[in-house]
Amino acid sequence: IATSLLAVAVAYAIGSLSFAVIVSRFMGLDDPRSYGSGNPGATNVLRSGNKVAALLTLAFDALKGYVPVVLAMLLAPRFGWGELTIGLVGLAAFIGHLWPVFFRFQGGKGVATAAGVLMALNPWLGLATLGTWVIVAVFTRYSSLAAIVSAAFAPFYQMLIWEVSPLLLAITVMSLLLIWRHGANIRKLMNGTESRLGQKASAAT
Ligand code: G3P
Repeated sequence: IATSLLAVAVAYAIGSLSFAVIVSRFMGLDDPRSYGSGNPGATNVLRSGNKVAALLTLAFDALKGYVPVVLAMLLAPRFGWGELTIGLVGLAAFIGHLWPVFFRFQGGKGVATAAGVLMALNPWLGLATLGTWVIVAVFTRYSSLAAIVSAAFAPFYQMLIWEVSPLLLAITVMSLLLIWRHGANIRKLMNGTESRLGQKASAAT
């Protein structure tokens, strides 16, 4: 149990690295919390007009979900960790992104990190969820709607792929938190003011 707790704490710390802010700082760009939706995530960094920065944010935010889960799976036999620990490690990295200890607990919405976690848990689960995101994003051009719909589907994909396990609980909690963090986006989608992918923005709204 001590090693499980340590793994969860390390995953939380890794998840707390807000790469939207870190990458922007490194590349000399404005802080993503100061424009567009104000969200420290790849979608909002894209609104700066810098595609490379957005791509790097996406990649690193996804990796910080992927790497801790893969490491936990590799170390599981050695420390006797079960699926509960692996699920909690993924959830901890995701929660680190939402409430980062290094950034006054003001984090993002967890889309890229959740994608990384799902991909590590099971590539089929990751690909099915990613495919859902791409389909909704291509048809609607709304990054937020794509994330909400794919998060809603993820637990069902998990049920199709595997039997009910502690992982399902972790994935469901992750999806619920992700959708809840999109509250402002849902309101904007409903009143038609949500910005579409490819649209730039200036002041934070
Ligand atoms: O990556 C989060 C995305 O789903 C919504 O981001 O900046 O439009 O609130 P944003």
